[in-house]
Amino acid sequence: MKIEGRTFVVSGGASGLGRACVRDICRLGGNVVILDMNEELGPALIKELGAGSAKFLVCDVSDTGSIASAVMPTVSWIKETGKPLGGIIPAAGVGRPGLILNKANEPVPLSQIDFVLSINLRGTLDLVRQFLPALATSPPFSSDNERGVIVMVSSSAAFDGQMGQVAYAASKGAVASMTLPMARDLSRFGIRVVTVAPSMFESAMTAGMSDKVRKGLEKAMEFPARAGKPEEFSALVRHAIENVMLNGVVIRLDGATRMPSKL
Ligand SMILES: NC(=O)c1ccc[n+]([C@@H]2O[C@H](COP(=O)([O-])OP(=O)(O)OC[C@H]3O[C@@H](n4cnc5c(N)ncnc54)[C@H](O)[C@@H]3O)[C@@H](O)[C@H]2O)c1
Repeated sequence: MKIEGRTFVVSGGASGLGRACVRDICRLGGNVVILDMNEELGPALIKELGAGSAKFLVCDVSDTGSIASAVMPTVSWIKETGKPLGGIIPAAGVGRPGLILNKANEPVPLSQIDFVLSINLRGTLDLVRQFLPALATSPPFSSDNERGVIVMVSSSAAFDGQMGQVAYAASKGAVASMTLPMARDLSRFGIRVVTVAPSMFESAMTAGMSDKVRKGLEKAMEFPARAGKPEEFSALVRHAIENVMLNGVVIRLDGATRMPSKL
């Protein structure tokens, strides 16, 4: 898939890893619709990129009506710009740590589990589901008749989740698990599905970590012994968009790091 001349929907695109993808896509001549709840960072990014190539829509991916109300404006903008939909990147995500059973013998509140699953898992699936009809009717590209690509975001926690990450690991493991069946469902439409599973990357999500936790994580790393940079994440997403042979696969982006139980 060529990025130039196509439109990509990026949830969580106002910050961190999603924002790096947005910047990359625009730099390469693609258009982006950013779906995010952050009403400060979203408009600021549009200002940076220019309204010609990026559009911000306030959207809560855990609310199916909120996603539904973003579909029509996206489709209209695509018609206006003449850049058909080329991909969906559900990057919105949250982490809310909590032991499944704490020292006081209290189980993790169900509301905490629901919060994480409703954004990371259900929000990812619902976003893809609701934008797919538009993607499946995009004009095919190249001799492969490719219509588009979905690049989902899992995590190291899908494979080696740490203490307190039961809900987060469940959400990210599910995203990894649905990669292949989704690719199988969509192959007849010429739509690929690739998932990236990053370890610790610099972003708002990790900025709040204490020095102790950060140092502990860095100790657990192989090479390079540092957090990944958002541009290193978006470089892989860009490759996933461009390389038609990547499909139905989860790619770890972690410098060989395997997370320990605790730090
Ligand atoms: N940073 C890391 O170390 C790391 C590692 C593995 C996976 N991830 C995953 O990468 C993705 C991006 O995270 P990030 O690190 O860039 O964090 P971030 O906090 O910088 O960005 C997340 C974005 O998602 C948005 N968002 C949150 N809830 C939303 C909702 N309900 N609807 C719409 N938007 C919502 C936020 O407003 C924010 O702009 C997440 O799925 C996260 O789980 C991050």
